[in-house]
Amino acid sequence: MEVIVCKTKEEAGKKVAEIFINKVKEKNNKEGAVLGLATGSTVIPIYENMVKIAKEDNIDFSKVRTYNLDEYVGIDENNENSYRYFMNDNLFNHINIKKENTFVPSGEEKTAEENAKKYDETVLKANVDIQLLGIGENGHIGFNEPNESLHAKTFVENLSENTIEVNSRFFSSIEEVPKKAVTMGIGTILSAKEIIICAFGKKKANAVKYLIGEEKVTTKVPATMLFLHKNVKLFVDEECFSEVKKMR
Ligand code: GLP
Repeated sequence: MEVIVCKTKEEAGKKVAEIFINKVKEKNNKEGAVLGLATGSTVIPIYENMVKIAKEDNIDFSKVRTYNLDEYVGIDENNENSYRYFMNDNLFNHINIKKENTFVPSGEEKTAEENAKKYDETVLKANVDIQLLGIGENGHIGFNEPNESLHAKTFVENLSENTIEVNSRFFSSIEEVPKKAVTMGIGTILSAKEIIICAFGKKKANAVKYLIGEEKVTTKVPATMLFLHKNVKLFVDEECFSEVKKMR
């Protein structure tokens, strides 16, 4: 895992956005880039910079296909808290991507398990070029929560109390936070050719400590599964990095 320390999350956002844009340009002469995308506050500076560069340099996204990591179960895609809404709002509505080429797992409750299975097949077939990841305070990636064992394929996860509490900041009350989510499994995530994981701010230091300090693989910190992949870049800001250094 290559660790890249940036002064600020804005600087990291620019660097990561450039990597994605370069992939789009490179693959525009071929079959088009396949991007694995994530949601959350961490990735906002990345999407802001992608939109900025796309506008300034007239980047064509019409051949690009995107596959998102996860979605809450039981939330309609028009709900502001759905990850589909987040993606449209922060990225898709501002670039010339075809909406039919943007894939987010379905949060439909009744068919969640069945759709998760189909989604997994679709992602594996698509052969993701670069997968973007944030990290939960408890070390989760996508919505793969710390546990005795982890799922290999896309599945319906029961969200941990910690995640429900942390994510409640986006909802008007904690009761409104869904208890379940569909998420790519660890094997699905690791199937991408390249992975970029970002962690900004003090709150992520504990999770990042395992990645930088321990270099061990444990299901208790799902992000450590990324050590099983040969092309992973971890972008951290100085705020996070200096906190990690204090812990070591
Ligand atoms: C959610 C998402 C993750 C994300 C994490 C961190 O639980 N499922 O994909 O990485 O939150 O979110 P944030 O970037 O807002 O800290």
